[in-house]
Amino acid sequence: MNQIQEPLGVFTLDKLEAQVKQCKKCNLQTTRTSVVFGEGSAKANVMFVGEGPGEVEDRTGKPFVGPAGQKLDEVLASVGITRDEIYVTNVVKCRPPGNRAPNKKEIAKCAPYLEAQIALINPGLIITLGNIPTQWFLPNAPGITKVRGTYLAWRGEIKIFPMFHPSYLLRNPSRAKGSPKYLTWLDVQKIKEWINEYPA
Ligand code: URA
Ligand code: SF4
Repeated sequence: MNQIQEPLGVFTLDKLEAQVKQCKKCNLQTTRTSVVFGEGSAKANVMFVGEGPGEVEDRTGKPFVGPAGQKLDEVLASVGITRDEIYVTNVVKCRPPGNRAPNKKEIAKCAPYLEAQIALINPGLIITLGNIPTQWFLPNAPGITKVRGTYLAWRGEIKIFPMFHPSYLLRNPSRAKGSPKYLTWLDVQKIKEWINEYPA
C-alpha cells in the first residue's frame, strides 16, 4: 500500500512552546504567572539569551518587554536591528522571585528547553546578555567585563558573543568613553556587521 503518512516525531518550535508552557520541573513554577518561552523569528541567524523573565515579562509572557527590554530595544535601534530579525529568549523560562538570579538547579532543569530552541532555530551567532547565560554556554569564560565584545566558539559551528546585560546599563547611565554603554554601543555595531555578512 502506498499511503502517505505524516512524518513521525516532527518537532517544531510551536510544539516545544506548548510543552514548556506546561512545565513543572522546578520550583519556579510555583511562583510564576506566565512561562516566558521566547519570541522573534524562527529563521533568525542571531539569538539573544538573557537570564530569566522579570516582573513585566512574567505578567505578559513575553521576553524583554520591561525596562531591560526597552533598553535592549534602544541598543538594537542604534544600529537599525529590529526584534523581528532576531530571536530572544532566556536561560530560565519562569521568573525567579524578586528578580534574584536563577540557581544551578533551576538552570539545569530548564536548560534542555534552551538546547531545543537552539537546535530548532540553528543560529550562527548567540548573544549572551550578562554573566549567567555566558557561563551556561562557556563555564570557564572569564567575567563579562573581560569577555564582552569578543567572539567565542561553542560546539564548532556556533559563535558566542557576550554583551553587558541591559539592566547593567540601566544602573550605569554614563555614556563616557569606556563606560558600559559606550562599550555596548561598540559591541552592537559588531553584531550589525555580522548580520550584514551572514543574513538569515
Ligand atoms: N531580564 C532578562 O534577563 N530577561 C528578560 O526577559 C527580562 C529581563
Ligand atoms: Fe520548567 Fe524552566 Fe519554568 Fe523551571 S523555569 S518550571 S524548568 S520552564
